[in-house]
Amino acid sequence: MDLTIVILAAGQGTRMRSDLPKVLQPLAGRPLLAHVLEYSRALAANDVCVVYGHGADAVPTAFAGQGLRWALQAKQNGTGHAVMQAMPDTPDDNQVLILFGDVPLLLPETLQRLRAATGDDELAILTVDMDDPTGYGRIVREHGKVVRNVEQKDASDAERQIREINTGVMLSPAVKLKHWLDKLGNDNAQGEYYLTDIIAMAVNDGVTVHGIKASKQEEVMGINDKKQLAEAERALQARLVDELMAQGVGFADPSRVDIRGNLSCGKDVFIDINAIFEGEVVLGDGTKIESNNLIRDTRLGTGTLVHSNCHIEGAVTGANCEIGPFARLRPGAELADNVKVGNFVEIKKSTVADGSKVNHLTYIGDTDIGKGVNVGAGTITCNYDGVNKHRTTIGDDVFIGSGVNLVAPVKIGKGATIGAGSTITKPVAEGQLVIERSKQMTVRGWKRPVKKGAD
Ligand code: UD1
Ligand code: CA
Repeated sequence: MDLTIVILAAGQGTRMRSDLPKVLQPLAGRPLLAHVLEYSRALAANDVCVVYGHGADAVPTAFAGQGLRWALQAKQNGTGHAVMQAMPDTPDDNQVLILFGDVPLLLPETLQRLRAATGDDELAILTVDMDDPTGYGRIVREHGKVVRNVEQKDASDAERQIREINTGVMLSPAVKLKHWLDKLGNDNAQGEYYLTDIIAMAVNDGVTVHGIKASKQEEVMGINDKKQLAEAERALQARLVDELMAQGVGFADPSRVDIRGNLSCGKDVFIDINAIFEGEVVLGDGTKIESNNLIRDTRLGTGTLVHSNCHIEGAVTGANCEIGPFARLRPGAELADNVKVGNFVEIKKSTVADGSKVNHLTYIGDTDIGKGVNVGAGTITCNYDGVNKHRTTIGDDVFIGSGVNLVAPVKIGKGATIGAGSTITKPVAEGQLVIERSKQMTVRGWKRPVKKGAD
């Protein structure tokens, strides 16, 4: 049977106290809804419909071009009412899986298990045993069989003792779901159309109702406020780090690392505390990341060492590079093998060939540096004339003294040496020493000014 997935995401998320709709709140660097779409993918549904709320156009905008179907629920009249909004364009002969935009940690295996257990004409609900079930719908069973759900606000004292709760996730044949939704009323404590009322309707119609249990409470955790968002963040981070440790990645403290994207690691990688990885990051065999680093959309080659306190974005390194402490690699920084980038060095849109060193207090932008080059402390490539950017080219084996300005566009020939303090504006020939500075003079008998009295 073909599958339609309906994701309820119309809740306003008032408790977030944020201008951002709840399902766009970031978890591990991506909107909550992106996590739901990701675990949904395991079911290969051919139709995914998101029910979004009035005034939350930012949600369809954020997920444009992903082949999703959108249904507006203008007024929030309950979960049953929300599902109704998605029904008109849902094919009758599909199965419908109902998911929630604010439940980001479900495992795809759980959904696959739910689907595998459910026949084409049957209903399934995902439940879980809660230590503290307060606030949730309780699952009432008779002789082990699910007979209905009762909401907290409508439950008797005895029913409130039940620890098996409704997660909200449900799988139903579309045609039956439509039939039951048509019959829903809102005569209950909250005056809402409860999706959960269809459970008892199914039982009445003699339809088998499966109550499938999720393995952990964490999986079905719904996010309503910033505290729950932070709890979900830690739970997800723990999951990501566990996977990496199982692959052999070493962490000084698994609870002090954040992965907001995809981190893939080779063998014998070690990551010290407070490292943040964003976007697509690849760490080659034997790389070591010291404490307090932000690394985004970057690929580090075998054996590369990143010392503490670096900010690295959009960079690529070869093997055995050494970066930092306190270095900044910006997009387009491409280091070959055995390159050293030291403290307070910024590199942008530049290539640095094998074995070159840029060790102290330097800005390299729009530059190509050859092999075996030494760039002295305080060197600046002056790449910007106030309007346009220009490139600097530095040949192999060049030695650049300290405090040099290279005014681009400019070319330094192979093996040239630039004297400290020079401001280079013209091409430098291969193998030559070039010095550009005024002659040192001595002013004899000169006295320092003395402090005047107060006037
Ligand atoms: C619902 C279930 C309850 C279950 C709990 C799990 C019903 C009647 N109750 O209760 O059995 O234990 O979830 O968390 O279904 N939503 C809409 N439109 C609406 C109402 C809700 O899109 O009109 C969305 C919300 O954005 C939210 C989800 O549905 O993501 C759950 O809604 P909520 O009002 O929080 O349901 P609960 O009362 O918690
Ligand atoms: Ca809720």
